[in-house]
Amino acid sequence: MEIAFNAQELERVNKIKDHYPTEQAALMPVLWLAQRTFGWISPDVMQYVADLLHLPFAQVEGVATFYTMYFKKPMGKYHVQVCTNVSCMLMDGDSIYHHVSKKYGLKNMETTSDGKFSLEEVECMGACGGAPVVVINEDYYELSSIESIDKLLESLN
Ligand code: FES
Repeated sequence: MEIAFNAQELERVNKIKDHYPTEQAALMPVLWLAQRTFGWISPDVMQYVADLLHLPFAQVEGVATFYTMYFKKPMGKYHVQVCTNVSCMLMDGDSIYHHVSKKYGLKNMETTSDGKFSLEEVECMGACGGAPVVVINEDYYELSSIESIDKLLESLN
């Protein structure tokens, strides 16, 4: 796959850059846009972003590898993140995580062979009031249960 933003995405990059005093400061949102566009942050994507923002490759690599929200390998079409931090653990988030893990035969950060689902055990998602929390791609599902998540996963195409 060729690594290049289309005209619309480049326009978005320029808008992001306009919000920040330096190109370096725009790195995280541009990496996020790159992940949404290319699916994950490969070394080629890191180089593309580095060129686009006139930054050293090592700086982009440092940020992309430090933050777990940037995927360093291809993940599933539906990336299922289950919070097992304190509030969610107390509300049985662990059981949801283990249930999804068993259901699809996935360990943390693994993807099903058909590329449909990937699973991640995550730390607090900042939505403790709705514990236990499951996030699929960018959608939050609060007050989840094994039953509600099962139903949801089975409804995804
Ligand atoms: S502990 Fe799960 S969202 Fe905060």
